[in-house]
Formats: sequence, C-alpha cells, structure tokens
Amino acid sequence: MAFATRHFVRAAASSSAAAAAATAAAKKLVVKHVTVIGGGLMGAGIAQVAAASGHTVVLVDQSDEILKKSTKGIEESLKRVTKKKFADKPEAGAEFIEKTLKNLSTSTDAVAVVHSTDLVIEAIVENQEIKNELFKRLDKFAPEHTIFASNTSSLQITQLANSTTRQDRFGGLHFFNPVPMMKLVEVIKTPMTSQKTFESLVDFSKAVGKSPVSCKDTPGFIVNRLLVPYMMEAVRLFERGDASKEDIDVAMKLGAGYPMGPFELLDYVGLDTRWHSLEPNNPLFAPSPLLNKLVEEKKLGKKTGEGFYKYK
Ligand code: NAI
Repeated sequence: MAFATRHFVRAAASSSAAAAAATAAAKKLVVKHVTVIGGGLMGAGIAQVAAASGHTVVLVDQSDEILKKSTKGIEESLKRVTKKKFADKPEAGAEFIEKTLKNLSTSTDAVAVVHSTDLVIEAIVENQEIKNELFKRLDKFAPEHTIFASNTSSLQITQLANSTTRQDRFGGLHFFNPVPMMKLVEVIKTPMTSQKTFESLVDFSKAVGKSPVSCKDTPGFIVNRLLVPYMMEAVRLFERGDASKEDIDVAMKLGAGYPMGPFELLDYVGLDTRWHSLEPNNPLFAPSPLLNKLVEEKKLGKKTGEGFYKYK
C-alpha cells in the first residue's frame, strides 16, 4: 500500500511537472517569420542562417543596390557552406541553396514588412539615435506579439528597448562575425525582458543552429567584456616596446592556444571599432594613441588592406 501511494505521488508529481513544462512551452513564441533590418556584414549573415534553418526571412536595407550586394554575398556564402556540408551530395547541396533562397526576400520598406513578423532583428549602423528612431517607428506597425531584438555590440539594450512600448518583448541577440561560421549567440535579458521573450530568443538561437549563452545588459556582454581589455593590453604592451606585434601574436597562439593573435584579431575585426565607448571611464577600455593614429591614416585592418599588418 505504501509502495502504491509512493508510486502514485511520484506519478502525479511527474505528470504535473510535465504539465507545467508543457504550459511554459505553449507560452513561448515559436518564431517562424523573421525581419532582419540592415543587410551589411552581420544582417546578411543572420538572414542567411535564419533562412537556411527554415524561417521565412525578409531582409531590409536602405536601397535595392545594397540589398543586391547582400543577396550576392549570401549566395556566395551558401555555396561555400554547401561545398563543405554536402561534399559528397552535390544535388542535396543545390536543393539546400534553392530552399534557403526561397525562404528569403528583400525590401527597402521596414514598416511595410513588419506587420506579419514574429521577430525583428536589428543590425543597422551602430548609432543610438538612428536605432532608437527605427525601433520607435516599427513599434507602431509591428503586431502585439512581435519580439524586437538588437545585434548591437556596444549600446545598452535597455536604452533601445525604452524607445518602444514593448520593453517586455525586447532583448539582445548578439551574433558573431562571420555569422554562418561562429556558433555563439549572446542572448541579452534586460530587467524588463519577460521570461517568455528570453526563452523564445534562446529557442530561436538554437533553431538557427547556434549555441546561446545568457547575459545581463552589461557593457560588452560576455565576450567583448573579456576580449577587448585583452586586445587593448596587447596594444599597450607593443606601444611600450616590450615585445613586437609578431611575437605577441605567436605567443598567444602557441602559448595560450588561441587561433589568432591579438593583432591579427584586431585587423580582422576592424580598428575603427569604438571599443572605448563600451565603458568610457574604465581604464581597461581606454583609447590607444597608436590605434587612433592607424584609424586616422585609414589603416582599418583587413577591410582596407592594411592595419597592424599589410594584406595586399
Ligand atoms: P554594416 O555597416 O556592415 O551594415 C549596416 C547596414 O545597415 C548597412 O548595409 C546600412 O545600409 C544599413 N542601414 C543603416 N541604417 C539603416 C536603416 N535606418 N534602415 C535600414 N538599414 C540601415 O554593419 P555591421 O558590421 O553589419 O554591424 C551591424 C550591427 O551589428 C551593429 O550594431 C554592430 O555593432 C553589430 N555587430 C557587428 C559585428 C561585427 O563584427 N561587424 C559583430 C557583432 C555585432
């Protein structure tokens, strides 16, 4: 009898836990339709991985010319991905590309396309006022259930959320460059982001094949909070003449097992990234005279053919 009672209690507990999990899952938003605003480096990558994982995606930018360039970049990237993923099955690869591109369309009118979207991911220029203006405008036209997310690296998600009336349906989705290759997404929860929104963003990140980590709305989130002081310290070490940039790069690759040295990484990311704006009063993020000089000379890294190293 005791056994039967215990058994009953255990069964009842597990069925109520299952019911609670089912209710929580039912409450989460399953994202099917995504609008990505900004078809640059990051936005095009985000649109690509979302379309490749079966979402209906509209990519928005300011002109058809820019969007043509974004689409061309996506097609080329898909070819590269397919060559690896379907090495022995070229037909399956061609079908994958066709299906992905079918899921993707473009527009220059964000307001016109957000009326039927579940998730808006913003990846436009890193400027608080321009982003605020965009979110404020879209807030009026997007459906009630739509979640807004920003891919910003250095702005506060809370301040962006405050430009809308949907602070509970607002979070950060911080992807990494190049998006199709990098597995991480930082999912940022502000004090106003609801649990349902947070879980929906985590599920979406998994659905596009990424590994999400969670972080509060703190400057640099996790990765840049650690990476930027490391890179700036490498620049300061070099500026003082304590070691050459080549030796610092070799040291970190062979001694710490990093795939790139700090100067190679800085050149890859772009020297014009405004690191110190992450936390202007924190000496860890203080600007460097050498970095500023390179930027003034338009030596911005790989993208301009020269930064700490030459690439031509
Ligand atoms: P990008 O300069 O390559 O692309 C930005 C795009 O946004 C451009 O095509 C521009 O025409 C478009 N745009 C600007 N204002 C617009 C508007 N009002 N409406 C529609 N489109 C507009 O910039 P990138 O590198 O893709 O960065 C975008 C965002 O992603 C920024 O917030 C940046 O902080 C963040 N981010 C950048 C990373 C990187 O490694 N580049 C990494 C992670 C986040």
